[in-house]
Amino acid sequence: MTTDEWLTDTRTSYDTVAVSYAAQVRDALARGPYVRAALALFADSVRAAGGGPVADIGCGPGHVTAHLHTLGVDAFGVDLSPGMIEVARRDHPGLRFEVGSMTDLDLPAASVGGLLAWQSLIHIPDDEVPAVLGHFHRVLRPGGPLHLLFHVGDTPRWKTEGYGGHPMKVQVHRRRPAQVADWLRDSGFEVEAQMVLSPQEKSSQAILFARRG
Ligand SMILES: C[S@@+](CC[C@H](N)C(=O)[O-])C[C@H]1O[C@@H](n2cnc3c(N)ncnc32)[C@H](O)[C@@H]1O
Repeated sequence: MTTDEWLTDTRTSYDTVAVSYAAQVRDALARGPYVRAALALFADSVRAAGGGPVADIGCGPGHVTAHLHTLGVDAFGVDLSPGMIEVARRDHPGLRFEVGSMTDLDLPAASVGGLLAWQSLIHIPDDEVPAVLGHFHRVLRPGGPLHLLFHVGDTPRWKTEGYGGHPMKVQVHRRRPAQVADWLRDSGFEVEAQMVLSPQEKSSQAILFARRG
């Protein structure tokens, strides 16, 4: 499969589910004390590193971007799916959301004080991850924090439907935190901590807390 094909499939899939995805995650942060704590840590790290605009890459319907705003962070969202961006703008008027891909991140060098990619790097194949992390490194200011949230596992899985039975065609790349930490270090990041959510479950997720060196 060519890069264009999997990106197109991912974009179309999230366009299809944008409205139902937004409805399903609307209360997710209210129900998730650990993810709220991680976002509070992220906000503190951004301030400690000097503040500035913060990019939420693969922002989906923008609920995390909006939550960061309530924590005093000047966050904006970028997403591959125009449908998701439309929903994000509808639900959070006044915040900035743009269509874009992390595989070709259209932001100036050293222009953001922090970068968050929650459940979005999961759609990037292994051989493309170093290039994406290279973009993250380029656009982050030195010392700026990077937070990644991803599904834990050893094998990718095809997701062919979701969020109310809508058709999807995306690969979900489940990874071990040690593998992602190695990629981060190879790309010039310092890895400071990791949090594993629901470690006993099949749907376990991890958050890596890193910083541009
Ligand atoms: C599972 S959703 C996560 C949304 C949100 N970050 C959250 O935590 O709920 C994955 C999102 O990543 C976006 N995405 C996938 N590939 C992307 C890419 N190459 N660049 C930017 N966004 C991408 C999708 O369009 C989708 O909105």
